[in-house]
Amino acid sequence: MNALLTDRLVLRRWREEDRLPFRILNANLRGMEFMPSVLNRDESDDLMARIESHFDRYGFGLFAAELRQGGIFLGFIGLSVPSFDARFMPAVEIGWRLDSAHWGKGLATEGALEVVRFAFKDLNLEGLVSFTVPTNLRSRRVMEKLGMLHDVEDDFEHPKLPEGDPLRRHVLYRLQRTEWLDLHRKRESGPDKLLKNSIS
Ligand SMILES: CC(C)(COP(=O)(O)OP(=O)(O)OC[C@H]1O[C@@H](n2cnc3c(N)ncnc32)[C@H](O)[C@@H]1OP(=O)(O)O)[C@@H](O)C(=O)NCCC(=O)NCCS
Repeated sequence: MNALLTDRLVLRRWREEDRLPFRILNANLRGMEFMPSVLNRDESDDLMARIESHFDRYGFGLFAAELRQGGIFLGFIGLSVPSFDARFMPAVEIGWRLDSAHWGKGLATEGALEVVRFAFKDLNLEGLVSFTVPTNLRSRRVMEKLGMLHDVEDDFEHPKLPEGDPLRRHVLYRLQRTEWLDLHRKRESGPDKLLKNSIS
């Protein structure tokens, strides 16, 4: 599969040299604030191997994200099939995790917009979901900037976390290909008013 390119990013399959910066990213408390725990070296390596197997199995996955300028590894932005059952399954999730040194520059949104295009135009998927804990406002903002919509009726308890866990409650956002095509047409024909959704 070819890499995806944006103005500032390359989204590509993983390489051996990503292993070390990915371990550092997964050990960082700030970046893992909304995950059950940081990952140790073996857990990070295992996740990298699972991401690559996912590409082999489905033909898409969580791309390694790197800055075009300087080739710096940032983390991942991409697609995955959740490994648990839930009301909204079957579904393909769009997700991201970037080095906190590079947050706040629009990089997650830039990469994710290209991944959405890839999902709907190249893979012909019907829809995408994304989910996180309600307090992960940065991630929710990225979902909103993609044009994803949140319906409280879809919120769910993450089945992989035990009852009573403060991270168990999740908000779900969705984007259908037909909605994306509408957004795309409007974006091409005028100022982008559609990115101004507020968190519901
Ligand atoms: C979520 C994440 C990928 C965002 O990366 P990023 O490159 O900073 O994202 P962007 O710059 O494209 O957009 C971030 C948006 O959140 C907004 N934001 C930042 N902090 C915020 C806060 N505390 N409350 C509300 N919005 C906030 C930014 O202002 C920006 O929105 P804007 O463009 O309208 O101003 C990054 O924070 C990350 O890797 N977090 C840890 C991993 C994670 O939580 N992944 C998702 C798990 S489901």
